[in-house]
Amino acid sequence: MAIQTVVLRLNTRDPDAAILRRAAEVLRSGGLVAFPTETVYGLGAVATDPAAVRRIFDAKGRPSTNPLIVHVDGVEMARDCISDWPGAAERLASSFWPGPLTLVLPRSSAIPDVVTAGRGTVGVRMPANEVARRLIETVGRPLAAPSANRSNRVSPTTAEHVLQDLDGRVDMVLDAGPATVGLESTVLDLTREPLLRILRPGPITRQQIDALGGFRWDEEAPETVDDRPAPSPGMSSLHYAPATPTFRVEHEHELTPTAWAGRAALIRFGPVEAGPSELRCPVGGPRLADPSVAAARLYELLRELDGRGLDRIVVVMPPDEPEWAAIRDRLNRAARAWEPGGPR
Ligand code: TXA
Ligand code: MG
Repeated sequence: MAIQTVVLRLNTRDPDAAILRRAAEVLRSGGLVAFPTETVYGLGAVATDPAAVRRIFDAKGRPSTNPLIVHVDGVEMARDCISDWPGAAERLASSFWPGPLTLVLPRSSAIPDVVTAGRGTVGVRMPANEVARRLIETVGRPLAAPSANRSNRVSPTTAEHVLQDLDGRVDMVLDAGPATVGLESTVLDLTREPLLRILRPGPITRQQIDALGGFRWDEEAPETVDDRPAPSPGMSSLHYAPATPTFRVEHEHELTPTAWAGRAALIRFGPVEAGPSELRCPVGGPRLADPSVAAARLYELLRELDGRGLDRIVVVMPPDEPEWAAIRDRLNRAARAWEPGGPR
């Protein structure tokens, strides 16, 4: 049952208050509004309204076992969502908020089960995008918002991407141009405090957190991402994956000639020299040499290539270094390892 999706444009730096009020009205009456954040576009509903939050899962086709991040306009609102605000949270928030860091903490009774998938914890973050921040402020309530894509598709970094996936399934899309960071937030578990654990690597790195001093890491539990869907027979266990078969290698010389059979595109990262590719991906090469530029461009590039009816996308992974950790994490989930024999 399609609904009419209203698209409204705003200026990121100086969002129109009348448009924000209209969007806030939709949210307060239980609607879904997709909005820009600095990482990716989010699909928002009022976090304290269980019926509205259930609509997010329906619109995305998201398994109800995967918890949502709650977006707040500051520490005060965050503290309403959680039951304990440790000193570590205060330090991290004052260093990295507003910004791409989600803190997982014990939840308060204000946050319903549907948001947390029944867990006793909730992820909270204060986004840096001015439209997002002002929207939350105007609604006056925290917004539950996963990335605004259909489940298992690449996250959206533009309003156009949101419409590709969710036109007719959400009430409103706020368009404020492309996301500047381009990769989802770092998800940090503070529930084993004083030990920290990264659940999803992202734009805020472990090294940046360490630079604050005094933090200790739970080395027993390696960095893992908990939203990998359980592999089921006949279905891809890949997440964030393009529909086009997508393969990865650590080094270009591992590619066998079958990699270039038919129509293939190549994506490379880091310092790049000329390689054996037949068909160069148009935004490959030096433009993806820099981690933050690569982050900002990656999802757009994957969607763009996915729309071309290619036989395959081949990814040469960036170096296994801290500044590439988040990109490597997403590529590991978007692409399967290239087998020397080539594709079956
Ligand atoms: O940058 C972002 O984080 C974007 C923008 C919209 O803010 N949001 C986003 O949401 O990426 P989503 O739903 O696509 O990813 C949320 C991640 C998932 O890996 C989820 O499992 C994890 O956060 N998460 C959320 N709440 C959690 C909790 N209570 N415990 C552990 N992991 C949690
Ligand atoms: Mg997502």
